[in-house]
Amino acid sequence: MHWALPHNLPASGIRDILNRAIRQPGTIRLETGEPNFPPPAHVLEAYVAASKTGHNRYTATEGIEPLRQAIAAKSLRVNGVERSANQVLVTPGGIPGLFLAFMGTAGAGDEILVPDPGWPDYLGGMASLGIRPVFYPLAAPDYIPDLDVLTAHLSPRTRAVIVNSPGNPTGRVFPAETVQHIVEWARSHDLWIISDEVYDQIVFEGAPASPALWAPECTLSVYSFSKTYAMTGWRLGYLCGPVDAMESLTRVAMGTWSSVAEPLQYAGLAALQGPQDMVDEMRAAYERRRDLARDTLSGWGLETSRPNGAFYLLARIPEGLTSRQFALELLQEAGVAVAPGSAFGQEAEGWVRISLASSEGDLKEGLTRLGQFSAVRH
Ligand SMILES: Cc1ncc(COP(=O)(O)O)c(C=O)c1O
Repeated sequence: MHWALPHNLPASGIRDILNRAIRQPGTIRLETGEPNFPPPAHVLEAYVAASKTGHNRYTATEGIEPLRQAIAAKSLRVNGVERSANQVLVTPGGIPGLFLAFMGTAGAGDEILVPDPGWPDYLGGMASLGIRPVFYPLAAPDYIPDLDVLTAHLSPRTRAVIVNSPGNPTGRVFPAETVQHIVEWARSHDLWIISDEVYDQIVFEGAPASPALWAPECTLSVYSFSKTYAMTGWRLGYLCGPVDAMESLTRVAMGTWSSVAEPLQYAGLAALQGPQDMVDEMRAAYERRRDLARDTLSGWGLETSRPNGAFYLLARIPEGLTSRQFALELLQEAGVAVAPGSAFGQEAEGWVRISLASSEGDLKEGLTRLGQFSAVRH
């Protein structure tokens, strides 16, 4: 029988370490971007209350109306972008929103520009659709896109560009004028912007700017409850874009997940409408951890990136080992899991990514062991 999907779809280099780490008890886990906080209590209560009061049904594929309206209100409050409820499609997490954005903007044989370093999970979805990723480098230490570099990676098959600010793994928040320039550039080349904004509320300095501020007609913005409200396992996000694009993608969602769990949508509503102090507390904790990590690693003589958002830090490893070898040996010999830079493309080879979403205790211990391990390797 014929199997249509390629068997060699890209696998994530972060998962590779994660799979090993979970088989090694006692490992200090700094490899994944998973907040160590529980979801806010009132959000959990809203989930239970919704389920107990009969909200256990299929909903409209695009999401329940109060949630779509609350998302539109959040869009204005947080992102400064005026959107109506019919520009919102509720999704089971950010990843499905990205997948729909790829599907809507490019077909088999088309190309999408992908940041390097960038989040590797973009690639599986694209490959399954036959879309070719074309990597555009973001140069250290600032990791800001360069328009000439972007232009050099264009071809007649380019359909879209992924913009990820605050970025994973760089932690970089692009200045508004950079985003505006990318928008003008994309518009002049007739490209969609797929704006991955899942870290939009984890910002330490500066303010993230959505491309939709300048080009709502050609921007598909992906958001998530995963990081902002520590709800990674609950799977709730949303995609925002022009009404006709959202209508078209809603048909796809209809034939894939049908609708997001109803009690979960009420939980999302409570998250958006309830107190936001936990969001601020988590952000403050990530900022403290960033400072702690930079101080600890520079104490060991290791260069680090300078993230101003998200919850990741890149640390330069001593020469002589690839980042994957370093991560594997660090795991085996020191019991610390980090993500190798090579998991994020070519540009981050020579670096490892440390997640600041792990507890402060784990971070301190893990960084000390990483420092000692590097000193021996040097
Ligand atoms: C850059 C980036 N985009 C999107 C996501 C998707 O998150 P989720 O599907 O949990 O909303 C992640 C998760 O780690 C991420 O780091």
